[in-house]
Amino acid sequence: MARYTHASIDLGALKHNFAAMSSCAPNSKQVVVVKADAYGNGALAVANCLRDEADMFAVAFLDEVFELREAGITQPILVLQGPHQEQECELSKVLNVVWMLHVEQQLNWINKRIANNELDESHHWVKFDTGMHRLGLMIEDYQQLAEAYPHIFHKNTVIATHLATADEPDNNASSIAINKFMNVMSQRHDCLSIANSAANICLPDSAKMWNRMGISLYGSSPFENNEVAVLLKPVMQLNSEVIALRTIAAGESVGYGATWTAKQTSVIATVAIGYADGYPRHAPIGTPALFEGKVGTLVGRVSMDMLTFDVTDIENIEIGTKVELWGKNLPINEVAKKIGTIGYELMTRISKRVPRKFVE
Ligand SMILES: Cc1ncc(COP(=O)(O)O)c(C=O)c1O
Repeated sequence: MARYTHASIDLGALKHNFAAMSSCAPNSKQVVVVKADAYGNGALAVANCLRDEADMFAVAFLDEVFELREAGITQPILVLQGPHQEQECELSKVLNVVWMLHVEQQLNWINKRIANNELDESHHWVKFDTGMHRLGLMIEDYQQLAEAYPHIFHKNTVIATHLATADEPDNNASSIAINKFMNVMSQRHDCLSIANSAANICLPDSAKMWNRMGISLYGSSPFENNEVAVLLKPVMQLNSEVIALRTIAAGESVGYGATWTAKQTSVIATVAIGYADGYPRHAPIGTPALFEGKVGTLVGRVSMDMLTFDVTDIENIEIGTKVELWGKNLPINEVAKKIGTIGYELMTRISKRVPRKFVE
């Protein structure tokens, strides 16, 4: 008998989210971001599910390309950090990758290969920094770079930027960044890419030829306050079950370090998932989970393989009662907020030992 703990991945919800997000920018092509194993949802399953709809897939670095190619995914794959080493450029054609070039060293590697007729212009995009100050060439250097790397900058080269504050709809820093980008690029390049999920929902000016969408496809709101004008359906549901139950007297403590002490006679349910499965160890007392739809609260420390919940007020709990850590009935962002993190982190940290079960 296997452990019941698993993440169910709703591919029907994924398709729904893709259609809903695409309808926000019907004239844009869609890059489906599947880095970090599709944010923990399973890159192969996600890519297979959207293989007829996605115009391109995106990963963070080259290693993440291989399994997609081995599985027969044919779309170009955008590598968001570009090549880490010059040798990687040799694989551009055979793997049909598109490098997002963000530092001059990478411009040099690709420019040289195009000049030598080893590569054509379809294998790179160029990223500019509009205020995030993480990756990207400086906008102010555009002219000088265009002259120094003539094979890199063509009218049809996709020029991209990534917004730092798209998930804050009231922050005008995003509009300032878009204007800065458009002032330099709009006359020079026909193919642009700005929007991620949040921008696609709340910044219509960011919809250009290519959108790059991640979190929204997985059904989690990119906004902290959860206000989404688009109906998104959760894709991942993290499930476990009760494997032990006990009633403890007031004054008794629970878990390593005895960090929680019962104020009254309490029923404690032990649930078969822990930090080795990716559930955050720093989840505080009071973090919710649903027991057959009713809210229990985390008590005591998160252990490697187990969690303990106070289920005193829930009737009919028994060994085998099913538990939803987040998913359709308990939004991942609600749990993330309680833990002091974001849905992105919760999803991507679910470890390999939690089987993904795919449902349509
Ligand atoms: C460059 C870039 N574009 C797009 C995305 C997708 O963003 P989101 O998941 O918020 O849609 C990411 C994600 O981190 C990214 O790094």
